Amino acid sequence: MSISYSSLAPGFGLRIDGLDISQPLTQEQSQAMRDAWSRANGVLLFRNQNLSPEQHVAFTAHFGDVYRQGAANNKALAPYYLPGHPEIFRVSNKVIDGQPAGREDAGTYWHSDGSWQANPPLGSLLYAVEIPPVGGDTMFADMYRAYDNLSDTFKLMLEGLEAEHSLAAAVLRTSYAKEYAGRLDEAAAKKATHSIVKTHPQSGRKCLFVNPGFTSHIVGIPQDESSAILNFLYAHIVKAENVYRHRWQKNDLIMWDNRCNLNYAVADYKKEGVRYMHRTTVKQRAEV
Ligand code: SIN
Repeated sequence: MSISYSSLAPGFGLRIDGLDISQPLTQEQSQAMRDAWSRANGVLLFRNQNLSPEQHVAFTAHFGDVYRQGAANNKALAPYYLPGHPEIFRVSNKVIDGQPAGREDAGTYWHSDGSWQANPPLGSLLYAVEIPPVGGDTMFADMYRAYDNLSDTFKLMLEGLEAEHSLAAAVLRTSYAKEYAGRLDEAAAKKATHSIVKTHPQSGRKCLFVNPGFTSHIVGIPQDESSAILNFLYAHIVKAENVYRHRWQKNDLIMWDNRCNLNYAVADYKKEGVRYMHRTTVKQRAEV
């Protein structure tokens, strides 16, 4: 069977059929997937995949080094990794023997994963093990298109500006408040500065890199100007034209590129049923 590609939204996202990603890929298939990821502006969907944790990790490795939770990493999130599989983070509202079987509110706001780090994760691969009958969609914003759709005047103003991203910002605004209750100082130390406009190393195209989850302020300008610019950008980024909303089916795997996408997990499903997802993460390469 040959591989086929169809758009998820005009110019954004590709669905890939005809490839069983639980099996080892040939070099050509592996290269074709990396090329497709770039061509799709960062979002790829594979449907009807039966993936064990090992197969999920093996597929992830085609895109770079796979993140493993270790003693030195973010301890607050350690309980959510799949026992025996330090590469698999569980996102879920499921409770087993009174214990959460995953982080319930992971990513329930617009964000780029871990943008508070100097070298944030390159991408993530999320696999639907159990889904509710309705709800629990994930939305993706195309940060290339968001940049392209700004006026030349606004693009010029953003050129050279940098923004600070911090975990403390997310503690004040998101579900991180739970994991870091009483530890705001610790979260405040986890921060990094990034250009607001980045050139993606693979595509060579410019995209925006700010998000309402982790970006605290624009560096070197007054707070009111910083807030006005960031709030304008957030509203602009999530315009319907820039967003693909994914309605999950069991055994879907979606992957996204944190360098050119934001994502938002819609937490509307909790009365409907169980949502249980496995997520792997590709580490940022040193040159990026
Ligand atoms: C995440 O941001 O990693 C979670 C996305 C989701 O559960 O839809």
